[in-house]
Amino acid sequence: MDSALLLQEAIKARANAYTPYSHFGVGAALLDKNGHVHHGCNVENAAYGPTNCAERTALFRAIADGHKAGSFKAMAVVGNTDGPITPCGVCRQVLVELCDPDMKIIMGNMKGDMTETTVRDLLPGAFGPSDLESGKSKN
Ligand code: THU
Repeated sequence: MDSALLLQEAIKARANAYTPYSHFGVGAALLDKNGHVHHGCNVENAAYGPTNCAERTALFRAIADGHKAGSFKAMAVVGNTDGPITPCGVCRQVLVELCDPDMKIIMGNMKGDMTETTVRDLLPGAFGPSDLESGKSKN
C-alpha cells in the first residue's frame, strides 16, 4: 500500500475522533506486515491528562489484537493543520517502543500536504528497551 492510500485510511480513522475539548481531530492508520490497516483516532477526556492520541490508539489497538512489536510496516497520521501534522513527544516514545527504527511515518493534513520520516528520525537518541536491559544488572 502506498503512502497516499495509507493517508486516506488515516482520514477515515479521523472521522471517529472524540474531541469535545480541543475540537482537533487526528486520525492514524497503521499498516501491518500482512497488509492490514489498524485505525486510531484521538480520544479526549474531561480530566485532559487521560487523552489518548490517534497514533497511540492505533498502536495499542493493534497490539491488543495480537500483533507483535516490530511487525508494522508504516503509519500515516493526519490532522487539519496548516502543514503536515507532527506526532507529539509521548507518541514518539511509544513508536520507539513498538516499531522498528526505520519504520516509515507518513504525516499529512486535510489539504493534501504530505511528508515522510522514520521512527528513528522522529526521536533521535531515544531511551528504548535495550537501554533498560543493559542497566538492570548495574544497581
Ligand atoms: N493529538 C493527536 O492525536 N496526535 C498528534 O499527533 C497531535 C495531537 C491530539 C491530542 C488532543 O486530543 C488533540 O490532538 C489536541 O492536542
